[in-house]
Amino acid sequence: MHTVDELVTPAALVEARALEENLATMAAALPGERLRPHVKAHKCTELAKRQRAAGHRGFTCATVREVEGMVAAGLGGDLLLANEVLDTRRVGALVADGARVTLAVDSVATVAAAAEGGVREVVIDVNVGLPRCGCAPERAGALARLARERGLDVRGVMGYEGHLMMVQPVEERARLTEDAMKLLLAAHADVGGELVTAGGTGTHALNTWATEIQAGSYALMDTAYGTLGLPFAQALSLLGTVISVTGGDQGWAVADVGLKALGMDHGNPTIPGAAVWYCSDEHVTFAPDAPGSVRVGDRVRVLPAHVDPTVAMHEALYLVDSERVLERWPVDLRGW
Ligand SMILES: Cc1ncc(COP(=O)(O)O)c(C=O)c1O
Repeated sequence: MHTVDELVTPAALVEARALEENLATMAAALPGERLRPHVKAHKCTELAKRQRAAGHRGFTCATVREVEGMVAAGLGGDLLLANEVLDTRRVGALVADGARVTLAVDSVATVAAAAEGGVREVVIDVNVGLPRCGCAPERAGALARLARERGLDVRGVMGYEGHLMMVQPVEERARLTEDAMKLLLAAHADVGGELVTAGGTGTHALNTWATEIQAGSYALMDTAYGTLGLPFAQALSLLGTVISVTGGDQGWAVADVGLKALGMDHGNPTIPGAAVWYCSDEHVTFAPDAPGSVRVGDRVRVLPAHVDPTVAMHEALYLVDSERVLERWPVDLRGW
């Protein structure tokens, strides 16, 4: 396979140069262990290997499957499963085989599951404002004590400020991040340990309180993060084929990139040189800026609004240099 024209559409493309620059920019901003890249954004061990080559040794995962795949790829040296897990048998088996997996816990039940499933290391997950997982900051010390009584090594605290990633202007994002991290540092004072793990692409340059940042989207990017003026380029696009054109000044075109190929929770995708009207299962309907400029059979590049769910719908990422396909990387961390 040599050119993108030969690909079956829809296909997920990654511009090699943009990816390389994103990895280098982040490695300069947060070198080595200051970044624990989150693999949920790309679910691809080939890409994770490039992040390791950029100097980052530990990784963040969201699912047991991601942890298993990272270990199988030889990337299991220091994995943080930044999520609550009740069925810990698979994680325990990986730990018994020599992988280093640290698990997030936020309740008596998750501490018990970790201890009973053979997990050895945990972080106390603290709610810093996002209504999702995480214990109240004032509960963190007691949970850490319980975990230690159960024989677990408590490596520190985690507190993901996900509700702040898109806050504008940036000064407001910085102020709210500081408030959130004050909660996390108060919890850390009660818990101890070497890790204060937090952050994402939107706060990576602002969160100076965490010992490590869990950013993931920065590598491939999406149009939602593209609105923030971050120093990362849009590397991911979806290649589609125009399958129908309805002519005239009010005309439109349809390509085969629908919501089954595209994470839509952050809104419509973008097609450069066109206005996207809407997506349905297998279709994106759009009006080209220049009526009549698009023909049936043309290829279009569709830019997703949210990288993580988009990548999770594809079997492979095609690393490209514009029209040339350089490599095919399996999205091998999919599933659960
Ligand atoms: C626990 C956790 N950490 C970090 C991130 C950072 O991701 P991003 O780089 O997309 O901001 C996420 C994303 O949702 C997350 O859930």
